[in-house]
Amino acid sequence: MNASVSDFLETGDILIIPLFQDTEKAPNNTTIGLSRSASITLKSAISSDSFDGKEGETISIWTKECQIILLGMGTNNSLTTKKSRDIGAKCFSNLSGNKGKDIVIRFTTRWNTENMASFAEGMILRDYTFDKYQKKIDEEKHDGEWTIVCQTTKRHRKNLDLEIKKLSSIATGVHLARDLGNEPANRLYPEEFARRAEDWAKEKENVEVEVWDFSRLKEEGMNALIEVGKGSIHKPCMVFFRLNPNLDTGIQVPCIVGKGITFDSGGISIKGSAGMDEMKLDMHGSATVFGLFQALYATGYQGRVNGIACMAENMPSAEAYRPGDVIDTYSGKTIEVLNTDAEGRNVLADGLWKASELNPSYIIDLATLTGSIVIALGHEATGLFTNDDILSERIKRAGEEVDEICWPMPLLPAFEKQMTSSKIADVRNQGKGRWGGAIQAAGFLKQFVQERENNEGEKSQIPWAHLDIAGTAGIWGGESNATVGHGATGIQVRTLHRLITKK
Ligand code: BES
Ligand code: MN
Ligand code: ZN
Repeated sequence: MNASVSDFLETGDILIIPLFQDTEKAPNNTTIGLSRSASITLKSAISSDSFDGKEGETISIWTKECQIILLGMGTNNSLTTKKSRDIGAKCFSNLSGNKGKDIVIRFTTRWNTENMASFAEGMILRDYTFDKYQKKIDEEKHDGEWTIVCQTTKRHRKNLDLEIKKLSSIATGVHLARDLGNEPANRLYPEEFARRAEDWAKEKENVEVEVWDFSRLKEEGMNALIEVGKGSIHKPCMVFFRLNPNLDTGIQVPCIVGKGITFDSGGISIKGSAGMDEMKLDMHGSATVFGLFQALYATGYQGRVNGIACMAENMPSAEAYRPGDVIDTYSGKTIEVLNTDAEGRNVLADGLWKASELNPSYIIDLATLTGSIVIALGHEATGLFTNDDILSERIKRAGEEVDEICWPMPLLPAFEKQMTSSKIADVRNQGKGRWGGAIQAAGFLKQFVQERENNEGEKSQIPWAHLDIAGTAGIWGGESNATVGHGATGIQVRTLHRLITKK
């Protein structure tokens, strides 16, 4: 979608006029570019009793020149960025495009830059479909791209333009993450993810992608990742993302780690068949890492950042790892595998240890890790676990600022203890019962974040946060998310972009 900003000029194919509650008559600039008769119709619609600007209220008026949509925004002082974004997104999702794809949004009066930008962002984010495998989609649907022109008064134009350019760039990262998440597991397996990452890095000067393939993983002793992935014909790999690798070399920078299970069958501890198809999305942590790097690149971020994608397919086979196995990890610690379906934490064990070696300012991992977090938070919020209160507060705030909620969860010591009480290994990959499953998993991950010495010579763990996105990575029906129609959401690309780029 191409988005731009202009004065009140043309009307486009579709003229959207969002109005606040109790707008009694058409504000200045409402009818510019319309014929006399269309102007009269529009003015009487705004003044009529059938439109009063209540939130979500919509009236469509067909004129010779264009389709006009009056949109109710609710009261001016109750408008938030979230509301504005969602209304923009929902409005877009209802457009057919049959009569043209040039949209004009006319922000007449009482708008601030932030809310206008969010409205446009909602449309941009919602302008996404994953229909590459629908051979029979009608031509019309694919006939040309949507454009939006945001019309507003002069004093807003420059800032709005800058803001929309930035949000559009970030959206390319969100859409990339969705593409990866939606891709079926027979088409996107670990090596294919790696190939796409290498392809992406080609011809970009300030990014670097390095892939550790199966044999390199063996050489390096990335054994937990190997164990999870070895049951599949598609072998595991680790993909390193580096943005601006030659800048900031003397200082500590963030490292973002993703769980990348391209399909989670459960392995030998096989899952039931209901909903198993959704487990193609079990690589959304890595999809978010990849999408984040695209968003950072596209917005021209001038700082160094590291990313690690832990890629494997979890399959049952004669070669697969089994319940009861004790496996080595990159850290040197051993894991007693009690359930091969608790595979995400195993691959992250190697990813987090590797991340620690980069001496980062902080580590954030993203993972569709547990069904338990979906029980706790539903599809409304990502679970946020951390060993560092300052980092926690920063992530929470960044999430609030872009309306992707990260809800703090406790790393209770009792659950951590369950994970370190294996009778025959250093840690076990399943707790002692179902209760607190998401906290158990986080307690397991914590064992693989290294300590380091501060200036006073005291040892403490590297600041680390774990985002359990199992409930927020996908929309399969039932859930409400205005900016996503179906499938992968691209969750937390916008949050992490905000966190990293905020001064
Ligand atoms: N990928 C799943 C978690 C998941 C569930 C993601 C629902 C998205 C939606 C994960 O690998 C898993 O299987 N977790 C198990 C762990 C258990 C075996 C200890 C779970 O949560 O049931
Ligand atoms: Mn699993
Ligand atoms: Zn999984």
